[in-house]
Amino acid sequence: MIRPIVLHPDARLKKKSVEVEGITDALIELAEDMMETMYHAPGIGLAAPQIGVLQRVIVMDCAKKEDEEPDPIVMVNPLIKASSEEKNVYEEGCLSIPEHFAEVTRPELVQVEWIDLNGKEHSEEFNGLKSTCVQHEIDHLNGKLFIDYLGPIKRQMITRKMQKFKREKLRGSE
Ligand code: NI
Repeated sequence: MIRPIVLHPDARLKKKSVEVEGITDALIELAEDMMETMYHAPGIGLAAPQIGVLQRVIVMDCAKKEDEEPDPIVMVNPLIKASSEEKNVYEEGCLSIPEHFAEVTRPELVQVEWIDLNGKEHSEEFNGLKSTCVQHEIDHLNGKLFIDYLGPIKRQMITRKMQKFKREKLRGSE
């Protein structure tokens, strides 16, 4: 089921999500809904708080549509165990802040631990787009958005435009 995406500014996007206690049918359904919502948007990553669920679950698929096989990943309780000193700059966007993009500097490599929907533990090193994506999504679980890396003027400008966008969207749906 495609779920509505929570748009910035919204208090739910600023909260810290809670750890998942165990793999349940409800959790598997949540992950399926998140994947469907992400592909539909379309986007390459989505965190549970972005559909209003404050649990530590993210989904991503960073495969480029034209020439790569789909690469869907569900991470439950993901944790960054190590990050490189070397940095990388990517132009980031976010499904909760549509049509706004900005360059963000992050560690180039990260070591991430998570559990999958079978309860199996994983530990993997990510680089390139996948590294940026996983860091961006884990930030969501800690109430942090990519615009929090920008200067206050740029951040406030985007937030004001998003407030206006949300007001107009609301008016349009009446
Ligand atoms: Ni995002």
